[in-house]
Amino acid sequence: MTGDSNMNFNVLNRTCKLVVLLCLLHITVTFFFYVRSSATPLGFRSPQSHRNVLRYGQDRAEAGSPGTDAQEAGKKQGEAAEESRDQEEKQDQKLEKCPETSPLLVGPLRVEFNIHVSLDQIKKDNPNIQYGGRYKPKDCEVLQKVAIIIPFRNRDEHLKFWLYYLHPILQRQQLDYGVYIINQDGDETFNRAKLLNVGYMEALKEYDYNCFVFSDVDLIPMDDRNTYRCFEQPRHLSVSMDKFSYRLPYNQYFGGVSSLSKDQFLKINGFPNNYWGWGGEDDDIFNRLSFKGMSISRPNGEVGKCRMIRHNRDKQNDPNPQRFDRIAHTRDTMDKDGINTLSYRVLKTEKLDLYTKITVDVGKP
Ligand code: BGC
Repeated sequence: MTGDSNMNFNVLNRTCKLVVLLCLLHITVTFFFYVRSSATPLGFRSPQSHRNVLRYGQDRAEAGSPGTDAQEAGKKQGEAAEESRDQEEKQDQKLEKCPETSPLLVGPLRVEFNIHVSLDQIKKDNPNIQYGGRYKPKDCEVLQKVAIIIPFRNRDEHLKFWLYYLHPILQRQQLDYGVYIINQDGDETFNRAKLLNVGYMEALKEYDYNCFVFSDVDLIPMDDRNTYRCFEQPRHLSVSMDKFSYRLPYNQYFGGVSSLSKDQFLKINGFPNNYWGWGGEDDDIFNRLSFKGMSISRPNGEVGKCRMIRHNRDKQNDPNPQRFDRIAHTRDTMDKDGINTLSYRVLKTEKLDLYTKITVDVGKP
């Protein structure tokens, strides 16, 4: 009896041990496969693969497409990711150059200043403008990168109208552009041309611009065929202003709105820095261009029509009495005064929704 029960006990003991061992083995094998599956590339996705999986894999996998087993889903995911990469590559290659003349242009525009405009409304009307006043067409490759430089002081009302009219026009012109408001700090005499030089320098710190449009804040084109870009020769854009009864005041007039490529700008050593107060700096620029053998290109009088917002003369911007003398000496001064001698201090840079505002100390006369 004792011998039998001893034997039974031994059998039971061994069976229990075997069961425990089997359990341990089962747990180990399960754990091994668990760790291995979470260490697959899907477990540690790179941002790139994550992007593809999110777009093409995850939503499908989460939806649990019926009848698709894990292997098939994985295969499909891989194929979809590859397909997406191909599509992206093709799209990059496919992007055609923007046409010389944008097909979005509408021609003559109605421009009036007796309406209410607000920055909020402008923002809503132009949802594609990026922070800092930047825009780039999505469906074609641009021909030029254009920085629009506006010399500024205390003209917020005018700026609102400028943004209201110009942002839609510039987008229709299919430009890759940025708007830079160069705000002269303090209340010393205004220096338009020096602010334009500052705009050139500061815009280039931000993006590889190859064309610069220099515009007064109070001038609005009346036709979107007047493209704010650069041409073979320096361009004068504000050729028929309402202020001058839609005519050029004189043949050499280069004021208001003009555009110069980076090369054209550098060829004339930028603009003069020593024209304080109103007038003469645009004539100096004209002289610089002609001394370097360039001519002025212009749109025709119909396309070049523009309106100026009426205003009183700004404080600290009286006509500069030295301007006649300065203009007479451009040939001698242009290499000694320009972008090569520019000095200023940036006090503040504000990236706003519709433009970038750079406040600068440009010194005094
Ligand atoms: C001034 C220019 C100005 C033009 C038109 C000229 O006498 O020198 O700076 O743009 O008049 O007002």
